[in-house]
Amino acid sequence: MRACRREGVPYTPVWLMRQAGRYMKEYRDVRARYGFLEMCKQPEVAAEVTTYAAHRLNVDAAIIFADILLIIEPMGLDLEFAQGEGPVIHNPVRSPADVDRLREVESIDALDYVMQAIRITRRELKPNVPLIGFCGAPFTLASYVCEGGGSKNYINTKRLMYNDPGAWHEMMSRISRALALYLNAQIDAGAQAVQLFDSWVGCLSPDDYREFVLPHTRSVFENVKPGTPVLHFGTGTAPLLELIREAGGDVIGFDWRVRLDEAWARVGHDTAVMGNLDPVALFAGAEHVRREAKKILDRAGGRDGHVFNLGHGILPETPVETVVALVEAVHELSQR
Ligand code: CP3
Repeated sequence: MRACRREGVPYTPVWLMRQAGRYMKEYRDVRARYGFLEMCKQPEVAAEVTTYAAHRLNVDAAIIFADILLIIEPMGLDLEFAQGEGPVIHNPVRSPADVDRLREVESIDALDYVMQAIRITRRELKPNVPLIGFCGAPFTLASYVCEGGGSKNYINTKRLMYNDPGAWHEMMSRISRALALYLNAQIDAGAQAVQLFDSWVGCLSPDDYREFVLPHTRSVFENVKPGTPVLHFGTGTAPLLELIREAGGDVIGFDWRVRLDEAWARVGHDTAVMGNLDPVALFAGAEHVRREAKKILDRAGGRDGHVFNLGHGILPETPVETVVALVEAVHELSQR
């Protein structure tokens, strides 16, 4: 929390995106008993995997176990996590008429299971470990809504954006209003910081980002209750960093394709930053990870306002011992 506010810290805090996930045997054991969405919808189970991962890794923050796509269900989209395929949306948005049938989310009651999971997790976590809530950013969510799942080239998304800008902006506004409501409900339930994941925004040109995305992402930041740090994360964002900063957020996340010192200078030292170890470094063993962590910490240069993280989520085959070694190395090498 202090690092998010660019205050002094005894060592650089570290947490990891997807820290509760399939690379952990304990997660797989729980997951064997439930479908993924089912797990998200059982607050006790979501709280258990969140808390377990944070304690096992000895990280400085927990992120609530949930998914960026949960919010699209109350918007009238039919979401499924198909075995081995990732998310599938059976009724994707492809036309202005499809945009019209997207429901306005008037209340967040349909996602009350997330708020319950946050309340339980907050009780179970060590008091000095803050809990992060999150949502997808408008563009990344729109990409799933238009493609009907993951994508390589985002053809359906960009076609709607270019051919029907009115419908595009209407869809993005509707998503953005739902997101602000959702984040504020998470904060009310006990999330002490919240993160926007714009995982796939790196597929856009700077001009398209400015015209079709920035105003919507900004409106989410503007509508989150003041006083709670907001983290703004994306991947492939090297050409977009100044615009991402302009869109908002107290902490800007970087992937591993940029040097942390250069990226920090570009977004400005008056903002906090998060990042940025390549998740694949964790496959090369503890010694390699320690050297890479040191490089990142050196680039941060002891400046206040660095939250250590990966440049993207932990991959499913990652060895747990190396993840534990990374957290220890960051704590030790960054002692002030
Ligand atoms: O970080 C955490 O520990 C909290 C939980 C979390 C999950 N998803 C759990 C999850 C968070 C923060 C997310 C965010 C999320 N979900 C993002 C943004 C982050 C990123 O990685 O870019 C995105 C794009 C999604 C959408 C999503 N959810 C996809 C594409 C998939 C399939 C991935 C795959 O490799 O199969 C998911 C499923 C998912 N979300 C899993 C987990 C632990 C795996 C599901 C399983 O157990 O089978």
